[in-house]
Amino acid sequence: MAKPPLFFFFLFFLLFNLPPSTSAVPTSTETLLRFKSSLTNTLALSNWNSSVPLCSGDRRFWTGLICKNDQLYGIRLENMSLGGTVDTAALAGLPTLRTLSVMNNRFEGPMPDVKRIGALRALYLSNNNFSGSISGDAFEGMGNLKRLYLSGNGFSGEIPGSLVELKAVVELGLEDNMFEGRIPDLGERVWKYLNFSGNRLDGPIPYGLSKDSNFTSYLGKFTLLNPLLN
Ligand SMILES: *[C@@H]1O[C@H](CO)[C@@H](O)[C@H](O)[C@H]1NC(C)=O
Ligand SMILES: *[C@@H]1O[C@H](CO)[C@@H](O)[C@H](O)[C@H]1NC(C)=O
Ligand SMILES: *[C@@H]1O[C@H](CO)[C@@H](O)[C@H](O)[C@H]1NC(C)=O
Ligand SMILES: *[C@@H]1O[C@H](CO)[C@@H](O)[C@H](O)[C@H]1NC(C)=O
Ligand SMILES: *[C@@H]1O[C@H](CO)[C@@H](O)[C@H](O)[C@H]1NC(C)=O
Repeated sequence: MAKPPLFFFFLFFLLFNLPPSTSAVPTSTETLLRFKSSLTNTLALSNWNSSVPLCSGDRRFWTGLICKNDQLYGIRLENMSLGGTVDTAALAGLPTLRTLSVMNNRFEGPMPDVKRIGALRALYLSNNNFSGSISGDAFEGMGNLKRLYLSGNGFSGEIPGSLVELKAVVELGLEDNMFEGRIPDLGERVWKYLNFSGNRLDGPIPYGLSKDSNFTSYLGKFTLLNPLLN
């Protein structure tokens, strides 16, 4: 075996003696531009400009942002024909982000890894072309989530178990997908919106849901335990 040339020792020395990374935590501006870079068809976001501040008070200077008290509170990119990837790894670097909407666009492929943005209170992915089954732990740890809309996509498989654990959710739109299996028992709570219709769900309506909910939410193929509910 040939001895490694001196050069490699030199390289090794260099690598381990580099000064500590000087890159500070990226600013929200940098993070948003990184997020944008994985989107396609971003014409609607052409005023996202690093020399313009994001927020002043509750006012936003970049299209699609929601600002509160000088801070970025939400991202609302709706009806923009956006495609590409929803880079949740980038969004995880926005500690004040509480709501995210990418409704009515052209995103496709699997569900983005949203649990990385664990502090979200509202998430709207409706009316895109996301597809495939959602992993059981997709919503793990998102205990603050109150509104979740996945409607009008091509999601399939079972309703993920981690969703059942989200006790703060009071608006849940799962309609018009290809979910199958049973409606999980979500316990009792006062729903503001709940919709499972237009899926391939089956089986009885769980007792907790049958008590206080709007019947049209359950349209679909069900074995009704008690067709006179209300
Ligand atoms: C960003 O904003 C600065 C200052 O308003 C302006 O001069 C520049 O042209 C803008 N850049 C882009 C890409 O719009
Ligand atoms: C997007 O379009 C929908 C349906 O037309 C509308 O209800 C919603 O307010 C729009 N969103 C924005 C941010 O304009
Ligand atoms: C949505 O995706 C499916 C396959 O994943 C594809 O067949 C269909 O054409 C897509 N629909 C739109 C509107 O892009
Ligand atoms: C049930 O939902 C339908 C459709 O959204 C609505 O028109 C109706 O008022 C709801 N009924 C109740 C009792 O909430
Ligand atoms: C639930 O979704 C279906 C299908 O989109 C719709 O027809 C129905 O009105 C919705 N129900 C409620 C309560 O909004």
